[in-house]
Amino acid sequence: MLAMNSLFQPCSLNQLQLNNRFIKAGTFENMTPDGRPSQQLHQFHQQIAEGGIGMTTIGYCAVENNGRLHDRMLYMGEHIREELTLLIDDLHAAGTKVSGQMGHGGGFSQNSELSIRRPKGPSFGINALGIPKGMFFCDAMNEKDIHHLIHTYKEAAIFMKSVGFDCLEIHFGHGYGLCQFLSPKTNKRNDNYGGSLTHRMRLPLQVLDAVREGVGNEFPLLAKVSITEGARGGLQFEETLTFCKALDKHGIDGIIPSTGSSTMNPMLMFRGENMLPHLLTYEKSALMRLILRLSGKALFKNYPYSPLYLKKYATIIKENINAKLIYVGGASTPDDFTTLMDSGFDFIQLGRSLLADPLLLSKIQNHQPINACTHCNQCLGTIAHDEGIHCPYYSKKNI
Ligand SMILES: Cc1cc2nc3c(=O)[nH]c(=O)nc-3n(C[C@H](O)[C@H](O)[C@H](O)COP(=O)(O)O)c2cc1C
Repeated sequence: MLAMNSLFQPCSLNQLQLNNRFIKAGTFENMTPDGRPSQQLHQFHQQIAEGGIGMTTIGYCAVENNGRLHDRMLYMGEHIREELTLLIDDLHAAGTKVSGQMGHGGGFSQNSELSIRRPKGPSFGINALGIPKGMFFCDAMNEKDIHHLIHTYKEAAIFMKSVGFDCLEIHFGHGYGLCQFLSPKTNKRNDNYGGSLTHRMRLPLQVLDAVREGVGNEFPLLAKVSITEGARGGLQFEETLTFCKALDKHGIDGIIPSTGSSTMNPMLMFRGENMLPHLLTYEKSALMRLILRLSGKALFKNYPYSPLYLKKYATIIKENINAKLIYVGGASTPDDFTTLMDSGFDFIQLGRSLLADPLLLSKIQNHQPINACTHCNQCLGTIAHDEGIHCPYYSKKNI
């Protein structure tokens, strides 16, 4: 009971005060057609705010157009200042704080609006996401591209702070751009940005320093990392732990240890029912459906679901850093939440449980029945749905 009470007490993250210890995990909403925030995106976060979340997160805010995975994603810039400001103002009025997840796809993209010939990552290679669009390869960034990227993160952070975001979450995991630099599998460079872990961490840490310079010391910055990429030759836990210690030294305020890789092993981050049939249900491109059928078994491995499936590694990270530990991964019930508080975690991020029931937290507080997430992972297919992400399991039941 004590643990449950402390979950709903006001608490701080750097200088930011939150009403409670719950943060909506970044889940790309697919509610930004043409790269602009829509009314639907507004309603989605508004409902989560009404459910009593301490802070919501706008998923995958690309730091530049060339950092988008596809052209339905937001990218930060003056062209959306007005819409973003309105959205954030309304969420503030509804009583929640707002974080923005800063992303860059690196060499992983099917964005048809790229201003460069091919997406760029640490090294030349296959661009798996681009194949259905005929974008088969990615190029290696040169030093000028790297300096541009660092500058871009800083400019995006300054912009995001200026439109009212209360917090920024830098994405260092899931196989996206910065993770591609960390990973020995995708980073084959032999300059100062490749080779040893110290070299592979250089760009991600320079990005953190640049973002910090842009927003100042009192602004909360979070880092989402992958515990492991779950792929042979990819990033392993020992290296991620070293990286987390380095983030800590460079002044990160909180670390969110996720896992897996969207490019190499996505199911590791979700567990539960395999997402492949759900992706096939909603995917519009016939070529993409064919690719998914051919590569599906190897890419979408089966991992049984268990509650709090990342707790073991999150605990080790927590023991090795001074920054706050924000737990993510299979936290869905009041019992899970109290276990996490009893284990000393600082905040809890919720992804699928809030899709299943945006009012989850207020219902728990009012002792009402909840729509508990079943981890059927149908929501993952809706990333390609015209109406954006939602929980088909409960919407089919009309609850
Ligand atoms: C529909 C959907 C979209 C997601 N999109 C993102 C994303 O844009 N960025 C990200 O870091 N994680 C993304 N995730 C992963 C979640 O943030 C979270 O790490 C994962 O769902 C595990 O937490 P959960 O058990 O609370 O759902 C997504 C998850 C779902 C279900």
